[in-house]
Amino acid sequence: MYYSQELIEEVRVKNDIVEVISGYLKMQKKGGNYWACCPFHNEKTPSFSVSGSKQMYHCFGCGASGNVYTFLMQYENYSFQEAVKALADRAGVPLPEIEYNEEMRKRENRRARLLEVNKEAAKFFYYQLRSPHGKVGYEYLKKRELSDETMHRFGLGYAGKNGAELVEYLRKKGFEDEIIKEAGLASYSEKRGMTSPFWNRVMYPIQDTNHRVIGFGGRVMGDGEPKYLNSPETPIFDKRRNLYGLNYARTSRSGNMILCEGYMDVIAMHQAGFTQAVASLGTAFTAEQANLLRRYTDSVLLAYDSDGAGVKAALRGIGILREAGLTAKVINMQPYKDPDEFMKALGKEAFEERIRQAENSFFFEIRILEGQFDMNDPESKTKFHREIARKLCEFSEDVERDNYLQAVADKYFIGVDNLRKLVASYAAQTGLAKPVERPKSGVQSKNNPQENAKKSQRLLITWVTDEPALYEKIKKYISAEDFTDDLYQEVARKLFEELERGEYHPAKIISMFEDEDKQREAAALFHTSLPQLSTGQERAKAFHDIVLAVKKNSYEYYTAQMGTDMSALNKVIEGKKALEELAKTHISLD
Ligand code: GTP
Ligand code: MN
Repeated sequence: MYYSQELIEEVRVKNDIVEVISGYLKMQKKGGNYWACCPFHNEKTPSFSVSGSKQMYHCFGCGASGNVYTFLMQYENYSFQEAVKALADRAGVPLPEIEYNEEMRKRENRRARLLEVNKEAAKFFYYQLRSPHGKVGYEYLKKRELSDETMHRFGLGYAGKNGAELVEYLRKKGFEDEIIKEAGLASYSEKRGMTSPFWNRVMYPIQDTNHRVIGFGGRVMGDGEPKYLNSPETPIFDKRRNLYGLNYARTSRSGNMILCEGYMDVIAMHQAGFTQAVASLGTAFTAEQANLLRRYTDSVLLAYDSDGAGVKAALRGIGILREAGLTAKVINMQPYKDPDEFMKALGKEAFEERIRQAENSFFFEIRILEGQFDMNDPESKTKFHREIARKLCEFSEDVERDNYLQAVADKYFIGVDNLRKLVASYAAQTGLAKPVERPKSGVQSKNNPQENAKKSQRLLITWVTDEPALYEKIKKYISAEDFTDDLYQEVARKLFEELERGEYHPAKIISMFEDEDKQREAAALFHTSLPQLSTGQERAKAFHDIVLAVKKNSYEYYTAQMGTDMSALNKVIEGKKALEELAKTHISLD
């Protein structure tokens, strides 16, 4: 942490969350809260609420939640430090430089330097392309039917005739060789000194969601190897966590995102008006990228190449998207190779039609599967049906699975009852998929005993933050150690410490974590959906059950640890007593 907790808290308190968010969203007051359409997913009716008393926001649609810092981190893609800076400025709180420790300051400086050198290199490439030197590059991009406006929008450039010019330029701008090398913009050899790997290529700057250049892709003009040269990973360029085109796509509000394979596809799509197109960065699509997309949409259309490799990549992508709780559809590009070629040949309206016809990812998978079996051979056909059954088991919800079962049975002329039997026998062997919980935390979770235990812990934290008076009634039985998840335990400890002192600031607890994922997960702890119960008796019982479940899990957890950890013994003895007492205690909620 660069700044002291006191300072972070001072800045937070001086920035009322309702005021800050009003600057971004049009909100309406209803009851005690303010409501708006969620900026983190697409929706038409407001499910994004901001609470002035809790100083937190929460979206009941996508689960986004947090305090004023996390809002800026999510909305502006700021790092935690940047959010603190922005809000300190807003409230006129001076931030002392000295609070950086030496190592952190160095790291931050280096990141800033890397951003600067990339920005300067992007400028160099940009002007080269528009100078007589860069005519080849410009002609190449023109031939590919990109307009000047598109080239400008994506900051396209040309790398110069040789590997020396860039280095010379950057040195003149005051960059040390070391930072130039670290950015991957040049390397040193005895023979040739400092030279850039980027020369005689058209350059695609890769931008983060704040339009900052974090790396480059350089394409040869015509056929040559390698076709693309990409910047290496650096402290500012994480290929797993960024997407090409997302800086524009995030504000497209089109209700979906289109995932393409290549930079050129993204550019061509944006030029045609499909500004929701993004692509991974020369590497396979990752779970991190799926989570990134989930901030903006729950529906992803795959516009991958129509060749074998593209189909394979699409199948892989579908799995990742589904794991992240996103629905995927596949756009048919036939008879063209990719979106770029399609757009050139048939244009915007035809593509819109293809979007409407996009194939449900499950049917896409089955159709591809079908190609691997010989339908004239009964044995092969049976195997195909078995594979269908296996895939059906991946649906966690009964209704959904049955809908698909009927549809696929219809489509492939399989008896519904036979297919049901196959699914049942498959499920008996291997089990059905467990529901993918719409993650509130950005962290994928599975429904297993451990997850159930965590759920009770979440419920308990939410309940106690909603009704702080309950703390007095459970503190006899429950302590922070009963929260067996590390992060939960940390949150519980801080929360209980505050309540002990008679204070109560859930929003403060969130910013005690520096890591954005952790903040999001911590924030989610305060917003678990509590059971909607009408009578006091029902509520009391539900609360009692939750307390009991948390204690029971903790007891089992420490019992399992006793072999290796002596200190667990005390907890086990204490836990047993508390459990027995709890079993006969009535906790009144009034
Ligand atoms: P064009 O061929 O110009 O239409 O580009 P494209 O963006 O359509 O490229 P393609 O479909 O061939 O490849 C998809 C993506 O894979 C590219 O955008 C690059 O990110 C990556 N890629 C392709 N070729 C290479 C390569 O030779 N090296 C690396 N590192 N990445 C590549
Ligand atoms: Mn292409």
